[in-house]
Amino acid sequence: MKCLRYTADGPLLVPGPVRIELPDGTVAESDRVTVALCLCRRSRIFPFCDTSHRRKRKPRTERRQDGTEKA
Ligand code: FES
Repeated sequence: MKCLRYTADGPLLVPGPVRIELPDGTVAESDRVTVALCLCRRSRIFPFCDTSHRRKRKPRTERRQDGTEKA
């Protein structure tokens, strides 16, 4: 039995090698021992993770009526 491992806010780790058929008909293959599949859709090499999920996002702030910002 193969073990798939979800990571917090990151990729799905699957044992390789893998062949992935995408909805548009393209096929992606990897011969790695463990393959990281992108779940965030930010990867430039989708369906594989390129660690783009790690990039920090600017924290959301609210502007108060007095013009100051609240995190
Ligand atoms: S999960 Fe890593 S780039 Fe999407």
